Amino acid sequence: MLRVEGITRSFSGFRALAGVGFDAERGRVTAVIGPNGAGKTTLFNVLTGHLKPDGGRILFQNNNIAGAKPHQVFRLGVARSFQLTNVFNRLTVLENVQVALLSRAGRSGSLSRGSLSECAARARELLDRVGLDGWAGQNAGRLSYGDQKLLEIGMALAGRPELLLLDEPTAGMSPEETAATAGLIRRLPGEGVTVLFTEHDMDLVFGLADKIVVLNQGLCIAQGPPDEVRAIAAVQKAYLGVEA
Ligand SMILES: Nc1ncnc2c1ncn2[C@@H]1O[C@H](COP(=O)(O)OP(=O)(O)O)[C@@H](O)[C@H]1O
Ligand SMILES: [Mg+2]
Repeated sequence: MLRVEGITRSFSGFRALAGVGFDAERGRVTAVIGPNGAGKTTLFNVLTGHLKPDGGRILFQNNNIAGAKPHQVFRLGVARSFQLTNVFNRLTVLENVQVALLSRAGRSGSLSRGSLSECAARARELLDRVGLDGWAGQNAGRLSYGDQKLLEIGMALAGRPELLLLDEPTAGMSPEETAATAGLIRRLPGEGVTVLFTEHDMDLVFGLADKIVVLNQGLCIAQGPPDEVRAIAAVQKAYLGVEA
């Protein structure tokens, strides 16, 4: 589904991405891991069009999307969550998802009562998928941090993405919220959503991912099934470096 080839990106001379290449398969959960500063967030920003790469190709279903604008990438079926910047605190949880649904339909300019109620049923379905159905009528600002992040995932799913990118989805979550997020990620491929995510919690990564891509200093130093990646000395070294 996704093939990344030789992606480079520098920030005033510093090579944050130094030629990253890997594949992510349809219907699978792929994790991108690597120490702090490895380039994971920069990679996600490049994949979704929020940063232009200096070079390289990003083939999403055989379209080269390197350098495309965020809305173009989104329209092709790639969604992400934005660490709460998309959540409207003073709208209800249900209304947040309705706004996401309407904006996907290109009708956000005319939020009439009619169109809002039209998509209420679908919004409830999405809340059910992310486990927030009990919170539909509450203001989003009253949700816990972890539940707001789940709401954001629900809003991202409103766009019916084929590929969903999640950058550290469980950061700052309680153990219960982390478990709920893991359950959601595990269900997504069965619902037609391929997942690419970054995560610090290695138990979660090795428990969830079908494939692991390891970044270190802007390069992919390993990729493969969890058991293979765990055994690679360079991976152990990159992580031992962090611990030291
Ligand atoms: N906008 C930016 N300007 C300058 N340096 C940046 C910028 N974004 C990221 N970097 C640098 O690029 C490197 C990779 O960062 P990042 O992609 O956030 O890593 P990760 O998500 O793996 O922790 C870091 O050294 C970071 O300081
Ligand atoms: Mg990051």
